[in-house]
Amino acid sequence: MSASVLDVPDVRTAGSVSHADGVHLDRVSRTFSTARGSRGVLRDVNLEVPSGEVVAVVGPSGCGKSTLLRLLGGLDKPTTGSISVGGTAVTDTDARTAVAFQEPRLLGWRTLAENVALGLPRCSRGSRSHQGRARVQELLHLVGLSHASEQKPREVSGGMAQRASLARALARNPEVLLLDEPFGALDALTRLRMQELLLDIHAAQPTTVVLVTHDVEEALFLADRVLLLRSLDADESVGSIAREIAVPGQRPRDRADHALTELRSELLQGLGVDTHHRTNPSEETR
Ligand SMILES: Nc1ncnc2c1ncn2[C@@H]1O[C@H](COP(=O)(O)OP(=O)(O)O)[C@@H](O)[C@H]1O
Ligand SMILES: [Mg+2]
Repeated sequence: MSASVLDVPDVRTAGSVSHADGVHLDRVSRTFSTARGSRGVLRDVNLEVPSGEVVAVVGPSGCGKSTLLRLLGGLDKPTTGSISVGGTAVTDTDARTAVAFQEPRLLGWRTLAENVALGLPRCSRGSRSHQGRARVQELLHLVGLSHASEQKPREVSGGMAQRASLARALARNPEVLLLDEPFGALDALTRLRMQELLLDIHAAQPTTVVLVTHDVEEALFLADRVLLLRSLDADESVGSIAREIAVPGQRPRDRADHALTELRSELLQGLGVDTHHRTNPSEETR
């Protein structure tokens, strides 16, 4: 692979973390107006994500995970509090961040290469831009799609389409990659492969990643830190971050690592899932 995909300084060697690095959220809240009055969806979110860190966000459906990503990407504004990326406030959609969603959202009439090119900065997007075309080829190579560059989205599998979507998000070399349940629609095996791919990409290009996932194992396999968000409906006084867990060990991790299995149970319990199946229903009333 040629240098430009890898041409990102390894920010983790750049010394101590300051607000000028990575992502910083200061007392961020988001309230929506609804027919039944105002509804707090995120409250008091304080978060520091140093450059190059991978943070996973888990939480029950509707607790505000996607809302948080939208705020980070400048697609929505906090009701109170502030957000900065690389020391500068996020006030609008912003070339420093890129988002990939559960569904690939590719243009069906364009080839995979053309779809990836849509993620390039405007200046290198034109079909005559040699630099742009070279970058697209590099990205397709990075996600293992060199052989399918001229295919249309409907001609490829769901996993391949999702890889193209990741490549498009990476095309402009974002400072922060925001992933909203990116593998949620894929079958179990493809999902595991995509997780490995994300690790490879991150090793080659250590972008800051905020990954929303409903899969606790995925969070523990990929992230340096896992944030457990709570739904605010039950309690008007608490903040959105219920727990923050530093994941032990270096990536790539052993999925069967005992420390991870324990954290998995802890997180599942935090999500209200009982990890011990009861065979005798009468035990529940004891
Ligand atoms: N623009 C909006 N107006 C009103 N309510 C919204 C808006 N966007 C999101 N919500 C509500 O905020 C809650 C959190 O949504 P979301 O962030 O998508 O949850 P999650 O991704 O955790 O499942 C949901 O109840 C949703 O209906
Ligand atoms: Mg969501």
